[in-house]
Amino acid sequence: MSNPALIDGFGRQITYVRLSVTDRCDFRCVYCMSEDMVFLPRQQILSLEELYRVGRVLVSLGVSKIRLTGGEPLVRQNIVWLVEKLASLQGLKELTLTTNGSQLARLAKPLKEAGLSRINISLDSLQEDRFRDMTRTGKLSEVLAGIEAAQQAGFQHIKLNSVILKGKNDDEILDLVNFIRQNQLDIAFIEEMPLGVITEHQRAETYISNDQVRHSIDQFYPLTAVSESTGGPARYYHMSDSNSRVGFISPHSHNFCGSCNRVRVTAEGRLLLCLGNEHSADLKAPLRNFPNDDQPLIDTLFNALPLKPEKHHFDLNDEPQIVRFMNMTGG
Ligand code: 5AD
Ligand code: SF4
Repeated sequence: MSNPALIDGFGRQITYVRLSVTDRCDFRCVYCMSEDMVFLPRQQILSLEELYRVGRVLVSLGVSKIRLTGGEPLVRQNIVWLVEKLASLQGLKELTLTTNGSQLARLAKPLKEAGLSRINISLDSLQEDRFRDMTRTGKLSEVLAGIEAAQQAGFQHIKLNSVILKGKNDDEILDLVNFIRQNQLDIAFIEEMPLGVITEHQRAETYISNDQVRHSIDQFYPLTAVSESTGGPARYYHMSDSNSRVGFISPHSHNFCGSCNRVRVTAEGRLLLCLGNEHSADLKAPLRNFPNDDQPLIDTLFNALPLKPEKHHFDLNDEPQIVRFMNMTGG
């Protein structure tokens, strides 16, 4: 007997899950973390076996795409084991990863061999000093080596994610586009989201809308909207003289909640129904209390679905309503 699908109160079927495998990261990006982050004690984090079990149950309920996130997912020990286990699940069409790229030089090949389908790599600057400023600890050369390793390992359609902040890296928009054109990559520009209290800058001051970013590219490389939807929140464009695509994820300027097909699971096993709201359900309790019975976990998932709100609400001038940081939320 097959299980019923996960359908929320607004008729949206959940087919995509972002699974955070750790809240830790080797970077401290200024828009993501405060400088002195406190990370979760290990026993509060789901084990790799528990993460696999969550994935297996979700796939049995109709989830066809899982993205592994963090923190930085590749700082989790034995992550390749999890990739191999998840990739072999019947019914899972895509297993993807969002990474800062720092460990890819070492891990791209094993990840490819384990069955990972695709990779997104975060990259906000191509200038070494500025890259260091924005990530506080990151080394640009390692990330560039990681991108190359991912290409060598045979990953296709590698996508960069770039958060553009006014006065910080908005002068690099065209450099980033030239970089993806030269290296046959795609890119998505992401508007900064008010997740967690950060001290390094005032978010309303660094806000630059994706319409502005798009306009500045369009003047050099006319952009034509790609008609087919990727099922995600990004809107994609192509350039007439390149195979690279340019996408925009615009939580502020274009609300994309109407077609939302996704939920998130945090590293400690909280199911988050929406990026912009605190609604959540605890999956760790049914996982740990019933190690040999999936039914309580399934019941928890179905009971949580009505909590999924119709849309998010972000306001850059208010105090963040969301106290979670992005590394807790899973990107
Ligand atoms: N707003 C927008 N994007 C963010 N990211 C991390 N924190 C934020 C934020 N507050 C991005 C990272 C990475 C992706 C997973 O999320 O840069 O590309
Ligand atoms: Fe780490 Fe990604 Fe957050 Fe940067 S944005 S600190 S790479 S989790």
